[in-house]
Amino acid sequence: MVRETQLLKQDLIYPLFVCEGEGIQEEISGMPGQKRFSLDRLVEEVKQVVDCGLGSVILFGIPEKKDSVGSEAWREDGIVQRAIQTVKEIKRDICVVGDVCLCQYTEHGHCGVVQGESVDNDSSLELLTRVAVSQAKAGADIIAPSDMMDGRIGAIRQALDAAGFAQLPIMAYGAKYASAFYGPFREAAQSAPKFGDRRSYQMDVANRREALRELALDLEEGADILMIKPALAYLDVIAAARERFDVPIAAYNVSGEYAMVCAAAANGWLDRRAIIMETLTAIKRAGADLILTYFAKEVAADLPQ
Ligand code: PBG
Repeated sequence: MVRETQLLKQDLIYPLFVCEGEGIQEEISGMPGQKRFSLDRLVEEVKQVVDCGLGSVILFGIPEKKDSVGSEAWREDGIVQRAIQTVKEIKRDICVVGDVCLCQYTEHGHCGVVQGESVDNDSSLELLTRVAVSQAKAGADIIAPSDMMDGRIGAIRQALDAAGFAQLPIMAYGAKYASAFYGPFREAAQSAPKFGDRRSYQMDVANRREALRELALDLEEGADILMIKPALAYLDVIAAARERFDVPIAAYNVSGEYAMVCAAAANGWLDRRAIIMETLTAIKRAGADLILTYFAKEVAADLPQ
């Protein structure tokens, strides 16, 4: 009766990795229990997600071919576009979030266009708008730009509106830190940068006030939901964002956070279920309305709708 925070199934968004090919369902090293699925295998997985009562997934595509600008990312029949359609065919009212970025699709592994040794912010924007519109056309319900270029929310909002998707919400990875917690994801999505790092566009882990400025800019440019990423080491940022902004706040419980729990539990050092529930409850208590988490499927059965 007096519990202040209640975790619900509807709070959770389940990430899925989709690759080309057939019959593929391969374990991701560093993320035990998480897999890369080809489209035919994705079907079974999504049915399980639906059966356990989850209402939302976020899709990451892993293309067969990469190039310097990541053109596979906006192909009408690209891997993630077909994955969006596949999920929608299984269940129309499952909420499909499309991650908009270029790093899985570029040879160099950066989230934008590279000129010399650095990422060129402004010329990346046009490409990102193409990705967003292609995912909208495929049927995505929410567009989630994760690239962290300046001005991308405004550019994407304009492009979506012009393409007839004025009603489609944007969930901005607004405060995305240059974090070491993304390690296992980069292996999963084959998106590690080939040179340098992402510190010219992702945020300095030391900065909280800057995160609030980044989030405010995204909101001004038209974001509907603001995301903080990672979650656990940034609960203060989640709490500050909750105080400051009157829009839904999302938090990404990222791959490294998942890996740490798996490793400790596998060694018998921590009680897996208890740690997961404590972690997710803490993220919600800090102020997140939505949590993107690889634990979603595992805990859903025990949560109220
Ligand atoms: C793509 C992207 C990343 C994650 C989500 N979208 C990786 C990165 O920025 O390097 C990380 C998610 C996770 O670690 O679970 N830009």
